[in-house]
Amino acid sequence: MTGYSVLSGGTVVSSTTTVRGDVLVKDGKIAAVGEFGDLPLDGVERVDVGGMLLVPGGVDVHTHIDSPMMGTVTADDFESATIAAAVGGTTTVVDFAMQPKGNGLLESLEAHHAKARGKAVVDYGFHMCITDLYPGAVGEFGEIVQSGVSSFKVFMAYRGTLMLDDGQMFDVLRQARHTGGQVCVHAENGDVIDRLAADLVAAGKTGPEYHEVARPPSTEVEAVRRAIRIARMADAPLYFVHLSTEGAVEAVAEAQSRDWAIAGETCTHYLTLGREFYDRPGFEPAKVVLTPPLRTQEHRDALWRGLRAGSLGVVSSDHCPFCLEEKRRLGEHDFRLVPNGGPGVEHRMLVLYGEGVARGRISLTKFVDLTATTPARQFGLTGKGQLAPGFDADIVVLDPQGSTTISAATQRQRMDYTPYEGWTVPGAVKAVYSRGELICRDGVFVGSAGRGRFVERAAL
Ligand code: URP
Ligand code: ZN
Ligand code: ZN
Repeated sequence: MTGYSVLSGGTVVSSTTTVRGDVLVKDGKIAAVGEFGDLPLDGVERVDVGGMLLVPGGVDVHTHIDSPMMGTVTADDFESATIAAAVGGTTTVVDFAMQPKGNGLLESLEAHHAKARGKAVVDYGFHMCITDLYPGAVGEFGEIVQSGVSSFKVFMAYRGTLMLDDGQMFDVLRQARHTGGQVCVHAENGDVIDRLAADLVAAGKTGPEYHEVARPPSTEVEAVRRAIRIARMADAPLYFVHLSTEGAVEAVAEAQSRDWAIAGETCTHYLTLGREFYDRPGFEPAKVVLTPPLRTQEHRDALWRGLRAGSLGVVSSDHCPFCLEEKRRLGEHDFRLVPNGGPGVEHRMLVLYGEGVARGRISLTKFVDLTATTPARQFGLTGKGQLAPGFDADIVVLDPQGSTTISAATQRQRMDYTPYEGWTVPGAVKAVYSRGELICRDGVFVGSAGRGRFVERAAL
């Protein structure tokens, strides 16, 4: 049995089961999962993972890498972001290919491919982010989906830069359905937010702490309910990105109870960080000027309930990093100009493991489901997200007895802060395999730039 390797003696976790066992790998794929302890596996390289959890490599379906936004560009390129992903146990990212206003969809997509090629260290896919629905744009959807980019994102906020109006969103939904694409939506009522923000600034309330005040929960809930209605009119499925409120979870659950094809994600930070961050002194709140903003405990509780009940199926990072200094340069005197977003791809898995599994809020199998299996299934990553024969051997060896301290000083994200500074979370990523290749050992990246492959995703 040459060319095989086996991770032996671990606990193999799927989205439904936790069993003691071994994982046999051949040519970058999982060949078998079982107990091979007594079999004479001559010539098979054996790696002892006794006491460890073996979980599918994380699938983070919401990142913004090397992406133009709000007058600047996100701080990570494909090499730094995917190294950060890898050391944190994420082996696939699906990144937003942004269409700068005035540019064509296909040319924007090709520009994003060029940014990733030769740099990514883990496998990656793209969503096509539509900010400018010029005449004929929907005619390009078929080619985009056929190229393996089978999802689109639209914004209901940021009028004048990113936002589409309801009619345009309807057009996108209709055409996406015809071409086998899935639409992801950023649901906030942008016009109301713009007015609230203008009032705050007019009253001299210009600091980053007012970002939250301008985006009350109702602005998300209204947009979620409207988007569901528009999706129904277009007879199209819809996926909500970065949900943050109790009302949004209720709206999604209600739609699902009617058997409508509505799905939703939340992000690590909405589950684990609270709006109190905006009460910190000085410019500190700018670290969490991200959209939607952080919420109260009541909303966090509802998000955890939504994950347990299944109305929310995915936890993503919304990794959209801007250094604090860059946020200050652009928005020190007006919170509306602070680039919206924060880092997260590196710590999504461990923060969710620590705050979710170790604290008893979700089971281990649910953790796997939320971080790998459902995101892969939802977005047509047919070879990812499970430790099962035929799937890519993307495997994380997780030490449940270990712990990890998070700090800007040691992180691989190219950032001057992390909102989790000083947190010590239970669990440590001991090793990471991507298509059978060891790419991280004891938190150190040992792979090579450019080894990550573009993954063509299946249409709906
Ligand atoms: O604050 C955020 N989330 N920025 C990134 C853009 C987006 O809306 O996902
Ligand atoms: Zn968004
Ligand atoms: Zn985002």
